[in-house]
Amino acid sequence: MAESTIAPSLTGQEIVELTRQHTLFEWSAQNSVDPIPVAGAKGSYFWTPEGRRFLDFNSQLMCVNVGHSHPHVVKAIQEQAATLAYANPFMATAPRARLGAKLAEIAPGDISVFFFTNGGAEANENAIKLARAFTGRHKILARYRSYHGATAGSMSLTGDPRRWANEPGIPGVVHVMDPYHGIQRGWDRTEDALAALEEVIQLEGPATIAGFILETVTGTNGILVPPDGYLKGVRDLCTKYGILMICDEVMSGFGRTGRWFAVDHWNVVPDLLTMAKGLTSAYVPLGAVGMRRHIADHFRDRVFAGGLTYNSHPLACAAALATIEVYEQEDLIGNARRMGGIMAGSLARLADRHPCVGAVRSIGLFGIIELVRDRQTREPMAPFNGTSPEMAALGRELRARGLYTFVRWNTVMTNPPLSISEPELQEGFAMLDGGLSVVDELLTQRAG
Ligand SMILES: Cc1ncc(COP(=O)(O)O)c(C=O)c1O
Repeated sequence: MAESTIAPSLTGQEIVELTRQHTLFEWSAQNSVDPIPVAGAKGSYFWTPEGRRFLDFNSQLMCVNVGHSHPHVVKAIQEQAATLAYANPFMATAPRARLGAKLAEIAPGDISVFFFTNGGAEANENAIKLARAFTGRHKILARYRSYHGATAGSMSLTGDPRRWANEPGIPGVVHVMDPYHGIQRGWDRTEDALAALEEVIQLEGPATIAGFILETVTGTNGILVPPDGYLKGVRDLCTKYGILMICDEVMSGFGRTGRWFAVDHWNVVPDLLTMAKGLTSAYVPLGAVGMRRHIADHFRDRVFAGGLTYNSHPLACAAALATIEVYEQEDLIGNARRMGGIMAGSLARLADRHPCVGAVRSIGLFGIIELVRDRQTREPMAPFNGTSPEMAALGRELRARGLYTFVRWNTVMTNPPLSISEPELQEGFAMLDGGLSVVDELLTQRAG
């Protein structure tokens, strides 16, 4: 690798020490973080300055969907930087124009107008603004098992415990139950979940509710694939009460589930659709909120009260266009479906082989394993919002074996780049198999 002309290269240890000394890691007590120094990446792998290689089974933060260092996206960024790195949001640029038109082509139904942001949280912030301005109502319903971002409004929408330390948030957010209640209580029947939702709508007052935001397939909170009929039922309730249905596809969009957007599996068209991550495969930060035509029309003669210096950033729009070209040219969404089928089989085999596996779920290349102490009681391997010696041991084991993924509470994620090959997928599952054997062994020792 060529030596940088700007600064001498750093060792992995120097990178970690300087990073820890002068920068803050998110969502962590700083003494508890143990970062991997990353020097480079290609395809499904990344490596340290010393050349230690990891298979990226989480696409970093479920976002590097086209794989690392894709030459087509890199070239588009380089060319755009050389042509026009920035133009302010009141300008019209070619990448902005082309990206809006391209997204209108791939987004569901008549979602054909887009407001660009720097990421997912801001996309959701602007979805709140759009819903409130369009309906003239102020409340937003959201679900408990959700993450919508870390800015004030998005954090208030977020249902998971990351919200707690950030409270009080913005007024007007009401949380409702999900159809899933954890590994011990499982899933509601669809009609019961919808009846509970309608009851909350009635109790809150339908005429006060601007929108209902939900992750189409819930991401960090458990890869929760909605039961058939649920999304259609939500759509019908929203239509019935004049509430905007806002689907957060920041994580589930752009092929992750094997379709452009997860809503496409159920042929549901939300009123607002938020996206980020896979939009550029995270090569450059970009998010967007897409809206149906009649919602955009509302703002023809009324002011849209939102803005950002980096709105419609040319570099990000060019990266998104190139990323979408890669999805199309390499049929990565088809690959997510094909590899997703193989992944589902591999997950099922892990469930067969390991007593510590309580449940597996996946859709496309969006997968999760839930670990339990005991298959009878289904007691989770770590408590809600907590960890345990077994989960910590699993995290250490996977890292030692060279597998990078998210280990959270009692779950392990399997979200590789959509470009992953079958041998790479098998390599990852072999490492997971080894890691889960260590957990089984710990449980046996404990019982013995
Ligand atoms: C479903 C969902 N929505 C919103 C966000 C927030 O996106 P960002 O971190 O780009 O602000 C995330 C991030 O993980 C997410 O998974």
